[in-house]
Amino acid sequence: MAQIIDGKLLSAQIKEELKEKTKILINEKGIIPGLALLLVGDNPASKSYVSSKEKSCSELGFKSIVERLPDNTDEATVLGFINKWNADETIHGILVQLPIPKQIDEQKVIQSISPKKDVDGFHPESFGRLVIGLPGFVPCTPAGIVEMIKRYKIPTKGKHVVVVGRSNIVGKPIANLMYQKNPDANSIVTICHTATSDLSYYTKQADILIAAVGVPRIIKAEDVKEGVVIIDVGINRVEDSTTEKGYRIVGDVDFENVKNKASAITPVPGGVGLMTVAMLMQNTYKSAAGEVL
Ligand code: GUN
Repeated sequence: MAQIIDGKLLSAQIKEELKEKTKILINEKGIIPGLALLLVGDNPASKSYVSSKEKSCSELGFKSIVERLPDNTDEATVLGFINKWNADETIHGILVQLPIPKQIDEQKVIQSISPKKDVDGFHPESFGRLVIGLPGFVPCTPAGIVEMIKRYKIPTKGKHVVVVGRSNIVGKPIANLMYQKNPDANSIVTICHTATSDLSYYTKQADILIAAVGVPRIIKAEDVKEGVVIIDVGINRVEDSTTEKGYRIVGDVDFENVKNKASAITPVPGGVGLMTVAMLMQNTYKSAAGEVL
């Protein structure tokens, strides 16, 4: 059976390291890392992500501000909060939870965040820096994936990484990170997406398969080769009447069957999702400490 890449353990370690570094930053420089979070609407998954980000801030000794706005909020109101936080010296990171309702232009919101406080790494300036290989904010889920691969010492040089999904949040940035010429990457990268007619043809060639599709258990055992490393980014709710909530969370990968063929695999839950929050905390700490831009 595959080695389990334990996101729960790793994220706890990273948060513990950050908690110690934060104490030092506060004692020596008087800087308390500050994160502003904005949530529009009542998407249940988004609400739960924002709450866990808020909770992590308090665990680490960060300041956090959370604005929860109704679904019919207009664009000007959102931009108003961002402008206020851009000018607030006690705020080092600004995050607008995505997706946001349709009446609000997502790109306009992303681009209104100061690149100096872009802890989500979604601003075109951050993405451009990532592609060129310059220092900058790396989006949290891709940063978490890189950290998992690194801490589990998974070889990447010359390996074939197949990314399924081309979202701005995960697929595009992780693909661009994995071919960079540095010791944590240096891979050969293929990106599959909705126009890929024979997905299995590509996934079977992967040494490292990164699934970021958003379709429950779409990757089956027959779609992967023996010894593959599986990074499952999917967080999908499926109905389950045996649970208290009436649903349960599964990944994009059929974990129970794929684990017998893989050499290492991230579980869902307990994998990449927890790393995303840890990396957001890391980006916010680095912003406060002046380590990024
Ligand atoms: N929605 C899904 N993932 C993310 C994320 O990493 N950041 C934000 N802001 N929204 C998301």
